[in-house]
Amino acid sequence: MRRRKIKGADEKLLSYKHYIVNGMIDQKLPEDESNDSKSLFDNRVAVENEIYNTLIDNYRGNWNNIFKNNNPIHIEVGTGRGQFITTLAEQNPNINYIALEIKEEVLLRAVEKADDLKLSNIAFIWGNVEFFDLYFSDKELSRIYINFCDPWPKKRCAKRRLTYSSFLELYRKKLNDNGDINFKTDNKDLFEFSLNEISSNDWMLRNISLDLANSDFKENITTEYEDKFMNLGQAIYRLEAIDIRRK
Ligand SMILES: C[S@@+](CC[C@H](N)C(=O)[O-])C[C@H]1O[C@@H](n2cnc3c(N)ncnc32)[C@H](O)[C@@H]1O
Repeated sequence: MRRRKIKGADEKLLSYKHYIVNGMIDQKLPEDESNDSKSLFDNRVAVENEIYNTLIDNYRGNWNNIFKNNNPIHIEVGTGRGQFITTLAEQNPNINYIALEIKEEVLLRAVEKADDLKLSNIAFIWGNVEFFDLYFSDKELSRIYINFCDPWPKKRCAKRRLTYSSFLELYRKKLNDNGDINFKTDNKDLFEFSLNEISSNDWMLRNISLDLANSDFKENITTEYEDKFMNLGQAIYRLEAIDIRRK
């Protein structure tokens, strides 16, 4: 199944060759999509083609060579228009950032921000979080940011939530021994789900905030969605998680 592309945005995006990695791998879905017992990730199979081979040969396990340093790598999943990750990249030149986003129209805005700021410590994957395993080798990442991901409120869609157990297992593999997950949302139900899912899958929760604007966490960098919700007076929830199986 491939997403329909909007002509123009994808070509423009791919023209930023120094920033962008095309991770839009063709994928197969199983014939019976109603199999709820399996995660979405388990159900999808990447079709091996030129993009797949380039990812495996040139990017997976090679990110520090691409950044030309051994600095830690932090990734934001579902980066949207990129305010958060480009601000972090500007403020922290000794960290490498990767932004992963599926929609070319919004990712283009994020890449343009990085280009305007002439950032050299950031890369962008136009891709799908379900193929995280093909983008990174094990222990290649130091931090995973998940900001305001889609809540998928229906129970039967729980496996699509980015804090569902199968995603947590994927993150566990890709984080190194000092790695952590930083998660923010405006959605109380998603936050409650995430607290339960994360803690029941051998992660330790820390720095939990139920109202980020009025918390002790002063170094917060906001995302576009966060600004929108905060302007509406909504509380923002935040947590950090570290893997307790790793030692
Ligand atoms: C609600 S928006 C939040 C954007 C940004 N993080 C923010 O806080 O402003 C969720 C983003 O995740 C992206 N997204 C959804 N599913 C994705 C997937 N499977 N892989 C990568 N990105 C995805 C969407 O395209 C969208 O830009």
